[in-house]
Amino acid sequence: MPVMTFETSRLLARPLEPSDHEAFHRIWGDLRVIWWGATPDAAASARKLDEILERVRHMPAGQGWFAVVEKASGVIVGDVVLAPYVAEPDLELGWHFVFDGWGHGYATEASRALVRYAFERVAAVRLVADIVPENVRSMRLAARLGMHPIGDRVRASLPHVVLALERAEAEAAPWWPDALVSS
Ligand SMILES: CC(C)(COP(=O)(O)OP(=O)(O)OC[C@H]1O[C@@H](n2cnc3c(N)ncnc32)[C@H](O)[C@@H]1OP(=O)(O)O)[C@@H](O)C(=O)NCCC(=O)NCCS
Repeated sequence: MPVMTFETSRLLARPLEPSDHEAFHRIWGDLRVIWWGATPDAAASARKLDEILERVRHMPAGQGWFAVVEKASGVIVGDVVLAPYVAEPDLELGWHFVFDGWGHGYATEASRALVRYAFERVAAVRLVADIVPENVRSMRLAARLGMHPIGDRVRASLPHVVLALERAEAEAAPWWPDALVSS
């Protein structure tokens, strides 16, 4: 069973827990971040977190939702996701960061580490992300990971671009060796 923690120079990722509900609400309760379905009050966020953690319990070993903690402050600055995708054996990547934490490279740093974690520790074959094209920051993040479009898909009634990343592509990226400080 893979150890579900990983570190970068500035960040620590570990499994999201029920006690993270306040930090989770700072992300999922913020319409500037989760514009397609924010949870409006703290109770709704707590229920959403419970639903997510229930889904995670049924995921294969090593997959799930990770809290991303800024090591210097101990504060949760975001979450990243590695989860089953509709088309097996692809695994889906996700990322959601607190609004005030945007623009520091945290999402890129955490997601690159998640990519390496996924290929090395969970033996992922291919990683995918469904992104609404107007979600420019998310598209830029996917590009920084080296993801490339492979198709389209309607999800929650919204057209999404499907982007993918193979292991060989990630391993050839200049950031791969530094993606994790410990692996
Ligand atoms: C998508 C999301 C995670 C991207 O956050 P982000 O902060 O823009 O992404 P990064 O961590 O890659 O940061 C990149 C920015 O930090 C800057 N930066 C500053 N210091 C940096 C550093 N040390 N290293 C790298 N980049 C750095 C970069 O120049 C870049 O700036 P720019 O936005 O002006 O181009 C964020 O916008 C978000 O949470 N969105 C809502 C959730 C969402 O849409 N999720 C996806 C659903 S499909």
